[in-house]
Parts: sequence; structure tokens; C-alpha cells
Amino acid sequence: MLLSQRRLFAGHFFSHSFCLGASEQKSAASIYPQRDTRTTGVIMTKIIFKNDAQRQYINIDWNKVVARLEELKNVKESLGNKHFTQSVREWAESLEIEEQIRLLNVTLGGLSNDDASVGVYATRPEDYERFAPFLEPIIREYHKISGETKQHHDWNIPVGEYVLTKIDPSLDRVSMRARVARNVNGWNLPSSMSQDERVQFEAYMEGIFAGLSIAGKYHSLTPGHAAELSQEEADQMRRDHMLFNDMTTDNHLTSSGIASHWPHGRGIWVSEDETKMIWIGEEDHLRIISIVHGNDLGVVDKSLSDLLTAMENAGVAFAMHPTYGVITTCPTNMGTGKRQSILGMFPNLSKRGTDEANLKRIAKELGLQARGLSGEHSQMDERGTADISPSARFGVTEAEVTKRLYEGLRALYAREKEAGQE
Ligand code: ARG
Repeated sequence: MLLSQRRLFAGHFFSHSFCLGASEQKSAASIYPQRDTRTTGVIMTKIIFKNDAQRQYINIDWNKVVARLEELKNVKESLGNKHFTQSVREWAESLEIEEQIRLLNVTLGGLSNDDASVGVYATRPEDYERFAPFLEPIIREYHKISGETKQHHDWNIPVGEYVLTKIDPSLDRVSMRARVARNVNGWNLPSSMSQDERVQFEAYMEGIFAGLSIAGKYHSLTPGHAAELSQEEADQMRRDHMLFNDMTTDNHLTSSGIASHWPHGRGIWVSEDETKMIWIGEEDHLRIISIVHGNDLGVVDKSLSDLLTAMENAGVAFAMHPTYGVITTCPTNMGTGKRQSILGMFPNLSKRGTDEANLKRIAKELGLQARGLSGEHSQMDERGTADISPSARFGVTEAEVTKRLYEGLRALYAREKEAGQE
């Protein structure tokens, strides 16, 4: 793969991006993040770690939690905030103390970030059952679930049907990406793993990789690991957009504990042909990814589902919820855990990148999410290059996600053309 091609994938690798240097972040004086949009326009934030976040509510002081939630309502009310009702509070106080601590940990990301829109992360797969009185309303509202619903899965996605050149002949060689979030039964989720557990999980996954039917290589970030990447190699892999970002630059991840013990137990497996990747120890135990250059969405799905099947055959048991499908650290990814996107250019709808909000608004009307080149919270360039994916994760099958992406793109490119004629 050429470096210039890889550059185009920026948005396809980083889910969060901030612009403070690591040393600056760690010496942050204020306990709560401050937002600052300076010249780059990228959200800057002060960084706090889980222990400091926890210390604010020592001895599980729910009064303090509620006071902080009230304060946050004046800035932005996250779903976790909205659904921490009086009756949830009473139920929380009735729990065993160990469980109260665990529930507090679930809310730390929201309590420590004034820009949180969801504000909760699970700490173990069982949280979704154990803390259902609090988490279920959040999941239901986020995924717009009404009445009884159950997640169904269907990876039967035709090749030769969702062909992008049928939408526009210029969409001949497009960067197409699909990923699924997965966690593995029997392990704490990344927000509550100890350093030892992270390293043991990495070793467990290396055993799985050794038995995988697809050829590839594992690269570790763990200090002293036999397959440890040197700083130069890691930097190069980041420039090539292969490797995920330093997690300690994202206050949602640090304050919740997801980024704790960085970089221990973190790493990436890459297939020989570099179209398949598995991240270990980012927001979920695993992010399973395929990136293909071409014009047939079905091809990237096939690549991803082949990798998933290979992993299952190698013996990984993914954590599943009886109703909500795949269990993910963040409730936003429950259901399929699948996000499928392409990198497209929308100079007219984004007014040459000066009006991202316009592109995002129109995308939203069409059931799509438009992100900047570097993923979640990032900016678009002057050509209006955006990462476009369907917003739905739950209540749709994997196949439906692909269909929605294709149909959404057809409508979005039609709007782009119209905007050019105006
Ligand atoms: N916890 C953050 C919030 O509540 C992120 C939510 C969605 N993004 C994600 N990467 N899970 O705003």
C-alpha cells in the first residue's frame, strides 16, 4: 500500500483527536476539562485520570454526584445525566457498597467532561444487566428503541450490488472501511482492567492470532514486549494511519479509566495484505477493522466478516447481550457494533470545508453521520473530505447498515450535485 494512499485514511483510524502535547495534558491544573477552540478549531481539553476523577466523590457521595450533574445541565445534559433520576438515585443507594463504587465508575466519563453526550461507559459485560434500571433507558433513548426489540444479526451482504460507481462514475477508487467493536467474555472491560489484566488479555489474544487462518503479524505497545514497536516504528505506523492514537490525549478515555496504564496491553494485529486490522485495548477489548480501496461496499463487508469468522474459529467468545446484541464499552455501539464508512468529498455541501455544520445537518437528515478526516471531533479539509457512515448501530442488521450507507450516499451525492448547480 502506498503511503500517499494511506494518508487518505486518516479519518479511518483515529476515533478521537485533540491537540495538546502529552506532557502538557498530564500537568493539567484544573480537575475538570476546559474547552478551548483556538486556531486549529479542534477541541482542546485538560486531561484527568480515573483516580482523580473518583476522588471527587469519595465514600460514594451521591449528593456530590447530583450537584455535579446539576452543574453540567447548564453546559450540556448528557443522556447519563438525564437518566440519573431520583428513583435511579434511590436504587443506587440501595446497592451493596462494591456495586455503588462500580456504578460511580460507570458515570465518571460523564462527570468529568462537559461535552459528554452520553456520559457512561460499562465496566464489565454484566453491567448492562446489573445496572439496567440506569443503563437501559440510556440505550433505548440513544438508539430510539420503542417497545420490545431484539438485535438480529445478518452478514449476508451481496457483492456486486452496492457498487458506488452506480451512484457516480467518479467513485471508482474510494477508501471504504468497516469496523466492529467486540469484547470478550470473562474479562473486565477496558475501563476497569488492572495493568496485569491488560497484559494478560494481550497475551491471550496473541494465542488467538497464532491460530488464525489469515496470515498477519502482531505489534505491541507494551514496554518490554518481544514484539514491541520502537518509538520510531510506532510513530511511522501512526503517520501511516495504521495505529491508533495515544489514548491519554482524550479526557473521556482517561477520566473513565479506559486509557489507564497506557500503553500496557495495547497493540495491533495487521494482516499480511494490510487490509485487515485488529486493535487491542482501545475503547473496547477489540476493534476489528477492514479497509479496502475500491467501489463495492460488499467487498469490505466480506473482508471483515471473514476476519470475524476466523477469530471465532480460533476460539474467541464475544460478549453478547440477550437483547442488545454485542456488548460494547460505550452504549452507543451496542447492537451490531458496526460502523461502516467511506471517505468522500463534498466541497459544495461543506462550502469548501468552511461550513461543516451544513454537511453534517444534511447527512443527519439522511440518517448519516459526517465526521472530519481524523474521525470523531475532527475537522474537514477545504475539499470537504468527510467520513460518512450510517448512524444506526442498533435494531438494524449488519447487512442493513451497508444498505443504509449505500442509499444514504446516493441521496447525499444528489444533494451535493444540486448544491453545485445553485
Ligand atoms: N463518552 C463520550 C460521550 O459521552 C463519547 C460517546 C460516543 N463516542 C465514542 N467513541 N464511544 O460524549
